[in-house]
Amino acid sequence: MRSSLFLAVTSALIASVWAHDGPHDTPTAPSVCLSAPTNATCSSFVIPSATITGAIGDICKASSFLPGCSLNTACSADSSLNATYCAPLTILATLCTATDDAALTNSTCGTTYNVFCSKDSLIPGCKSLPAFPGLPSGKAVTGAIYSVCQEMPMMTDCKICPAPDAKTGYSNCDEVKAWKGLCLDMPDMTQCPPFNTMCNSTKFAPFCNMDYKSPNNGTVTSPTNTTNTTNPSTPAGGNGKSGAGALADSMVMTSLVAIVAGVFALIL
Ligand SMILES: *[C@@H]1O[C@H](CO)[C@@H](O)[C@H](O)[C@H]1NC(C)=O
Ligand SMILES: *[C@@H]1O[C@H](CO)[C@@H](O)[C@H](O)[C@H]1NC(C)=O
Ligand SMILES: *[C@@H]1O[C@H](CO)[C@@H](O)[C@H](O)[C@H]1NC(C)=O
Ligand SMILES: *[C@@H]1O[C@H](CO)[C@@H](O)[C@H](O)[C@H]1NC(C)=O
Ligand SMILES: *[C@@H]1O[C@H](CO)[C@@H](O)[C@H](O)[C@H]1NC(C)=O
Ligand SMILES: *[C@@H]1O[C@H](CO)[C@@H](O)[C@H](O)[C@H]1NC(C)=O
Ligand SMILES: *[C@@H]1O[C@H](CO)[C@@H](O)[C@H](O)[C@H]1NC(C)=O
Repeated sequence: MRSSLFLAVTSALIASVWAHDGPHDTPTAPSVCLSAPTNATCSSFVIPSATITGAIGDICKASSFLPGCSLNTACSADSSLNATYCAPLTILATLCTATDDAALTNSTCGTTYNVFCSKDSLIPGCKSLPAFPGLPSGKAVTGAIYSVCQEMPMMTDCKICPAPDAKTGYSNCDEVKAWKGLCLDMPDMTQCPPFNTMCNSTKFAPFCNMDYKSPNNGTVTSPTNTTNTTNPSTPAGGNGKSGAGALADSMVMTSLVAIVAGVFALIL
């Protein structure tokens, strides 16, 4: 009896969440600024959060080894990190301005960031939230790791990444972690000045501190802390669900179910 009541309420809740998510969702028309950012009206435009996180999700689903995706992962796991470096637009800028990586990113960046944050864009965020300072492209990081590990194959962190794929030029591994480990270990290596400069200027702990530990080390996060990064309002101009958006939605749903379960546990 009790459990069927609980089931009924839970499924009603799930149904309403799905319904809200469904194809009849009618977001407001995308602003002209997403396609024509030089229009004078764009000087006060704020890019919808879902547009940004959707683009990051699309890129990182396919190419999680890119440095901008490591930034995204680090920032999602630790809300105490520098909010400028962790702004979703900073992360997307980091991915989309690494022109070396365009073969992997342009299918997304070429219709999003590179359009609304084009050189003459009037959208304020494009200027105030540039790419993470000094973080190189994935191509460059891959090359640095490979070069160090050719020279000194016995270094511990040479175990993190396999040799770059002959076709793509990338290694599918945590490239920033390998780069960080190698350059913290031997900062005087000729491949490390970009790392040293980046860390000198940003002091970004996940990339620069040997003993940094993410507060969310591989475990499931509390939904209250992670849902905050996404825009609670209706996604604008989205065609289809991004990985990031879908993940956020499923987390919202999970937490709603958990809340209902908690309320029932109290009542019964
Ligand atoms: C700028 O955008 C406004 C609002 O969408 C539109 O009415 C106007 O025609 C646009 N101006 C130009 C020059 O495209
Ligand atoms: C984040 O980093 C920027 C650039 O170094 C700095 O100006 C800002 O004060 C930092 N913000 C916080 C909250 O530490
Ligand atoms: C990137 O994508 C855009 C839009 O699809 C296209 O116009 C542009 O030529 C592409 N640029 C590169 C470098 O592939
Ligand atoms: C980092 O900054 C310190 C102090 O400003 C300086 O002494 C050091 O040479 C810098 N290192 C690099 C690699 O830029
Ligand atoms: C989490 O921490 C443990 C012990 O500190 C470590 O062995 C493990 O590799 C970490 N996992 C991740 C995903 O960082
Ligand atoms: C969520 O964000 C709001 C404002 O953006 C902030 O006031 C609140 O403290 C955040 N909550 C958490 C749990 O970080
Ligand atoms: C979640 O956020 C709150 C407030 O922002 C903080 O006190 C708490 O430690 C965070 N929990 C986790 C697991 O990060």
